[in-house]
Amino acid sequence: MDIEVDVNGVKIAFKRGKKSIPLIYIHGSGCDSSLWDKQLEEIGGFAIDLPGHGFSDDTNINSVYDYAFYVANAAKNLFDKAVFLGHSLGGAIVQEIYLNFKDCVLGIILVGTGARLRVLPEILDGLEKGDEKVIDKFVEMSFANAAESMKNDMKKRFLENIEVLLRDLKACDKFDLLEKYKIGEIKIDVPTLIIVGDKDKLTPVKYSQFFKSTIPQAELVVIENAGHMVMLEKVNEFNKAILDYLSKYNLL
Ligand code: COA
Repeated sequence: MDIEVDVNGVKIAFKRGKKSIPLIYIHGSGCDSSLWDKQLEEIGGFAIDLPGHGFSDDTNINSVYDYAFYVANAAKNLFDKAVFLGHSLGGAIVQEIYLNFKDCVLGIILVGTGARLRVLPEILDGLEKGDEKVIDKFVEMSFANAAESMKNDMKKRFLENIEVLLRDLKACDKFDLLEKYKIGEIKIDVPTLIIVGDKDKLTPVKYSQFFKSTIPQAELVVIENAGHMVMLEKVNEFNKAILDYLSKYNLL
């Protein structure tokens, strides 16, 4: 791993991209920093391994906030302020960072995520029982038109991390800021980009449209023919949206 920092005695690892720009990528449930290889190569920035994932130590994690604490404090070792880009669970973490550690936030990018992330009970139950068929279903729901090899890689990754995947999905299932946005208790006032695949079955486009309706300055990019794993399925379109955002705010 390229960089390791210490947060309260927990080692947190980052992968460094081609340019050291203040952009922190946060992966979703059961994944790790390698999810962002194509973005690190073309755009730059730093991809974190959440505690218990990739090369980072594990620690006691019970909620999205717990992850946000480690990401925000790890990122402070690299930059005073950064853009936080999160996918799915990672997008929930970005929202908790904005709410609790706003001093380190330059901007946010919400990818395939939502203000509430309830998980299908059959997925949680199946994972509790270690049922491999549930992983197959979850992987199928994660992609629109991906090659079998891409799906198999994801399945392997999930099978190797089944306990952590379950922990992550339980944290997602408890995450719910929907009402707080609706009543205006949460107002996001930093540069915001929202990206979603038009065929996302895990976090439907509707969730991103909701963000757009409550964050007036946000830009929403819906990428065609892409599912939940939009950064893997549509690399060019995805990277273009990020590069446009970064150049608009002079962050490249
Ligand atoms: N943003 C905006 N609206 C949201 C939302 C979000 N993040 N999450 C839920 N809602 C809305 C729904 O659209 C619905 O609105 P409606 O009544 O106008 O149709 C309402 O809140 C209730 O949502 P619903 O989906 O019926 O119930 P739920 O939020 O309790 O979730 C599930 C039940 C799990 C069956 C469903 O959310 C689902 O299919 N999720 C996707 C699959 C999954 O497991 N994803 C994993 C994400 S990590």
